[in-house]
Amino acid sequence: MNRFITAVVAVVVAVFLLGFGLFGAPSGMESVAVLGRALWTILIIGAVLVVAVAPLRRRMLGRSRLLGRLFAPRLARADAAALSPHELKALGVLRRPEAWGMAAALTRETVDRKGQRVRLWPALAGVELTPLGPAARFANPPGVTAGDWDVARVSSAVGFHVEISPAGASSVLVTARTRDPFKGAAKSSGGSLAAGIPCGVQEDGSPLLASFANQSGAVVGGVPGSGKSAGATSIIAQLCADPAAQFVVIDGKGGSDWSWVAPRAALLNTDDENLEAVKAQLLAVTSLMRWRLQTQKERRGTSNFWHAGATAEEGFVLVVVDECQSFFDPKEHMTKAAKELSQEIAALTVNLVKKGRSAGIFVMSITQKPTSDSIPSALSANCGVKWACRVETRAAEESILGARPDGTPDSASPTLIPETRPGGVTVKRGGEWVRARFSYTPEAEAAAIAERYASLRIPFEQLTARQPVFTEGDDV
Ligand SMILES: Nc1ncnc2c1ncn2[C@@H]1O[C@H](COP(=O)(O)OP(=O)(O)OP(=O)(O)O)[C@@H](O)[C@H]1O
Ligand SMILES: [Mg+2]
Repeated sequence: MNRFITAVVAVVVAVFLLGFGLFGAPSGMESVAVLGRALWTILIIGAVLVVAVAPLRRRMLGRSRLLGRLFAPRLARADAAALSPHELKALGVLRRPEAWGMAAALTRETVDRKGQRVRLWPALAGVELTPLGPAARFANPPGVTAGDWDVARVSSAVGFHVEISPAGASSVLVTARTRDPFKGAAKSSGGSLAAGIPCGVQEDGSPLLASFANQSGAVVGGVPGSGKSAGATSIIAQLCADPAAQFVVIDGKGGSDWSWVAPRAALLNTDDENLEAVKAQLLAVTSLMRWRLQTQKERRGTSNFWHAGATAEEGFVLVVVDECQSFFDPKEHMTKAAKELSQEIAALTVNLVKKGRSAGIFVMSITQKPTSDSIPSALSANCGVKWACRVETRAAEESILGARPDGTPDSASPTLIPETRPGGVTVKRGGEWVRARFSYTPEAEAAAIAERYASLRIPFEQLTARQPVFTEGDDV
């Protein structure tokens, strides 16, 4: 009761002071008016601080349910307008952790200063619209860590499927999975050899880039029909317009997947049985590489191709070996001679990948049979670009991408790419696995592009004849 009377007296005094400060005090009480104005100043500064500083606002206004709700973080107006009714509802649920936090086992009981038991909830710290759907960021209550956020448990507590990712030291981002970020993957354009060629979309909605500068090799694996050749097609179709790019395509399928590129490719070899020819072609590329490495300092003033850049005269050479298991894997062959040839071909490819970077030569090895025989470990170890389309086993996943880096969510595994998403791919970028989808260029469109830029083609013999001919006995 005492406390109540004190509060009432304080409020009455404050109201009088504020009144005098605003309307002036009777004569003889001017100093009270000054006090009143001082109180106004303090109140105004306090209000500005509470409105402008988010953590302060949460602390002050969060004590009242009504004010807390009123001032809780909300979406930018344009983002809010872009939400479907279903997404609005999902965001509404996410914004009220008090409705689901307990079921998700994310609250903790503690005793406050007055000795009373209180429950601590995740605190809503922000909301945003991501390419996957609307999301809410929560600060963990004391005693809760990022590891306590269980996707299945939170999904069942909120009533829809969510994704959870750490967002800073003690907060997490909970996203309502309402959107397919890969829908926009159909087309890619722009980019350059130096900056990277956009070839799809990553799960955060940003473009997936094929980076060739200062790189020398890519391994691409995935089950038949998972979109490996289509991904490579859309990259090369974009590069066709660049006079500084030349292509050597060796197709171990022996079919017509790559016939579209014939008018623009320096070489298209679709004979999957003539291993001697493939070896000779890789020897010719090796020879070009050696000549560039030995002479470019003198000719171009730099020992790194990429410092001088790719030009029409000295172009970037992209070698594609599709269905590379047909050439690299000795088990694919019956005779001893063929087995030996396939080992030589694999060794030549490894050598190109090891030394090709500073000569502007890049080898993309594509396989539907990702094993250590199809992708020798020396090849995979030297390839900076690793793309795994849909695979069926963890072993296949590992032979393309290597072991999963710590903290990689299961959802990033290429074994979980749905069959209904051809071109879906997990990309190894630094120590991270990122989900993406290749863009798609239908074959007829790619063929028209190759035809349009046919005049930029340099025939293979001419491309590789700019240097002394490499002989087999030479040390590569
Ligand atoms: N990014 C994509 N978007 C939409 N459809 C795609 C995409 N990529 C591939 N497809 C579809 O999937 C089909 C198979 O793709 P692709 O030929 O690239 O498979 P692959 O992995 O190379 O198979 P294989 O190992 O048998 O050669 C394509 O013909 C096309 O219809
Ligand atoms: Mg293919």
